[in-house]
Amino acid sequence: MSYVRACALSALQEDVPKKVELNGVPVAVVRTDEGVFAINDTCSHANVSLSEGEVEDCMIECWLHGSSFDLRTGKPSGLPATRPVAVYPVKIEGDDVLVSVNQEN
Ligand code: FES
Repeated sequence: MSYVRACALSALQEDVPKKVELNGVPVAVVRTDEGVFAINDTCSHANVSLSEGEVEDCMIECWLHGSSFDLRTGKPSGLPATRPVAVYPVKIEGDDVLVSVNQEN
């Protein structure tokens, strides 16, 4: 599994998503009190950037229609989204946040 650097850990504020593009994949990186998570930035319901939504209790909310996705699993908690969003493995090395976007989810 190959990891690429997404951003500096110190650049992430808790529960404030940061949008990055890794190997052409848009990813929202989120630091929470449970750790750092990486989720595909595009809502599974329509073409909306999840990083523009709010994070609470390890869930990121799509601002357009209100589905929330679990940052740990990518699963939506409720309608209108029914399909999960891909989540990616994260590693922390020093101040670097590394994400592997190559694996299939
Ligand atoms: S576009 Fe995200 S819930 Fe509709």
